[in-house]
Amino acid sequence: MVAGRVPHAEEVLPLPALSSVPRHVAIIMDGNGRWATARGLSRVEGHRAGALAIRTVAERLSQHGVPVLTLFAFSTENWGRPRAEVRAILGLASDFIDTRLAELDEADVRLAHIGDIGRLPRALRAKVRHAVERTAANTGLVLNVAFSYGGRADIVDAVRRLVDDGVRAEDITEEAIAERIATAHLPEPDLLIRTGGERRISNFLVWQAAYAEYYFTPTLWPDFDARAVDAALLEYGRRRRRFGLVPEGACAPDGLTASAGA
Ligand code: IPE
Ligand code: IPE
Ligand code: MG
Repeated sequence: MVAGRVPHAEEVLPLPALSSVPRHVAIIMDGNGRWATARGLSRVEGHRAGALAIRTVAERLSQHGVPVLTLFAFSTENWGRPRAEVRAILGLASDFIDTRLAELDEADVRLAHIGDIGRLPRALRAKVRHAVERTAANTGLVLNVAFSYGGRADIVDAVRRLVDDGVRAEDITEEAIAERIATAHLPEPDLLIRTGGERRISNFLVWQAAYAEYYFTPTLWPDFDARAVDAALLEYGRRRRRFGLVPEGACAPDGLTASAGA
């Protein structure tokens, strides 16, 4: 070790080898409120701590070579929370762009947004557009933020585009919808993580996560760190994805191997 320099704890956390690296990790960042309540803090403090956790997680996923990360930061349903909490979350989103944009750009991160941008206050809308434009040519991690996002609304928008494009009923295919869904430019999520202990999708990537591997952890989002990322990716590597097909090497009822009939 170089004398005189104390490395940050995460710099020295060895990177475990993975048997397969997801092309797209999507995370439902849940548990900020409970994290704060457990410490006698306001829910807003939990959201603040949650915003800080993003950097560590994005960096670790990048180190593993994950090319796309989608974060569920605010759902269409979350607009129904108390006004003060919504206002505070909008403020944190704005602060996040103000304080992190230069650093993310420097790290070659490409920012993207999915969700109903029209519902955001004008100033935040402009900041989101600016952040996306400024980082558009970057070639590192795609950091896709789902803010004011709902999976059902995403499908409704895709259907509206089909109509606008004059697609005839007989030409409506899964591909035609996939081309018009908010993440059309990205691979489908391979791994969907939910922190905070709940085991539900809460209207996240309803269309896109049809074949994602789900990983649920009781860890509350502000506590989700590099080690927790490693654990999720190692578990992903142990999953056997079949996409409805017969497992590799299995014997078919007639004695033929699974691939023999292909
Ligand atoms: C997730 O944390 C952040 C948002 C939904 C904006 P929560 O605020 O849902 O935290 P819990 O689930 O109440 O602990
Ligand atoms: C899902 O969390 C949305 C985000 C993390 C942004 P919620 O806390 O809103 O979900 P529910 O209410 O537990 O289903
Ligand atoms: Mg929650």
